[in-house]
Amino acid sequence: MRILSGIQPSGTIHIGNYFGMIKKMIESQNDGELFAFIASYHALTSVKDKELLEKNTFEAAVNFLALGMDPEKSTFWVQHHVKEVLELYWILSNHTSMGLLERAHSFKDKTARGIQANHGLFSYPVLMAADILLFDSNIVPVGKDQVQHVEMTRDIANSFNHSYNTDLFVMPKSKIDDVVATVPGTDGAKMSKSYNNTIDMFNTKKKIKKQVMGIVTDSKELDEAKDWAGCNVYSLCKLFMGEDELLTLQKRYETPGEGYGHFKLALLDKINEHFDPYVQKREELLNNPKKVHEILEYGASKARKIASAKMEIIRDTVGLI
Ligand code: ADP
Ligand code: TRP
Repeated sequence: MRILSGIQPSGTIHIGNYFGMIKKMIESQNDGELFAFIASYHALTSVKDKELLEKNTFEAAVNFLALGMDPEKSTFWVQHHVKEVLELYWILSNHTSMGLLERAHSFKDKTARGIQANHGLFSYPVLMAADILLFDSNIVPVGKDQVQHVEMTRDIANSFNHSYNTDLFVMPKSKIDDVVATVPGTDGAKMSKSYNNTIDMFNTKKKIKKQVMGIVTDSKELDEAKDWAGCNVYSLCKLFMGEDELLTLQKRYETPGEGYGHFKLALLDKINEHFDPYVQKREELLNNPKKVHEILEYGASKARKIASAKMEIIRDTVGLI
């Protein structure tokens, strides 16, 4: 079974990204053959700054490698290092109706928010279809917002297969995981970099402490019993603690004598304990860009081998000989 997913390179990552997406992707290395790439071409639709795109792409690679992406076991590359995807994008464009693209929620949402649409943004799902179909992907783990793009991929693949009376393209299925509920931010709303309520994974100890100490709670005093069930600090502790530890924490909430500051420090300890091993690995990689580039080139060469063989068959199928 082939699992494929792309990640947009988007600067700093928070623990919501980690528990919502990154951790699952890393773990899927045990479920099948994982193909994962940094969607640098897709990022061009929103990032128009050379240095920023370079920095974000490099950091995304470092973050994934530090968090356990295994470049031997999986195929991990940067999208623009395997240019076959652009050739397939053009071929697929000719099997994509305007109406299909006009119905895309993400495109409609962006234009409704006043973002000036250009052709890149409009045809974004065709490039995503090329990513998926080039590698014969069976499963595409995505967030809710991307499910429609996988459905569009199936439509495009069907249209192509039908035109050439072939079953060349494998029909992909999206996989959404409902188990991890949305990770709450420091104010209790969905943690998101757009809401300024994040707890970052890789920031200075001082900054992370400040974010944790800023978690919103009610104003119960030290000598009052507290309600753990509705508390943001407790909700975040659930991500890091096992059952026994949570029971102990519940007792502490229910027994007067401690304040929210104590619970926040308990959470901070857990966060540090969880991410410290990755911090060190990440620092090593950040300080060794040559090694990171070698790993990415190795991944690209593995991906390219598959992509170029598939493209030969596709060219032959459509008459580009
Ligand atoms: P942000 O909302 O901070 O801009 P992105 O939209 O870049 O985050 O999300 C990247 C990935 O992380 C997506 O797959 C998304 O599903 C996941 N993710 C982001 N925030 C959360 C959250 N609070 N809880 C669970 N998953 C999240
Ligand atoms: N559009 C995806 C996102 O924003 C990223 C992406 C690009 C992707 N190509 C893909 C995801 C192919 C899965 C498969 O999250």
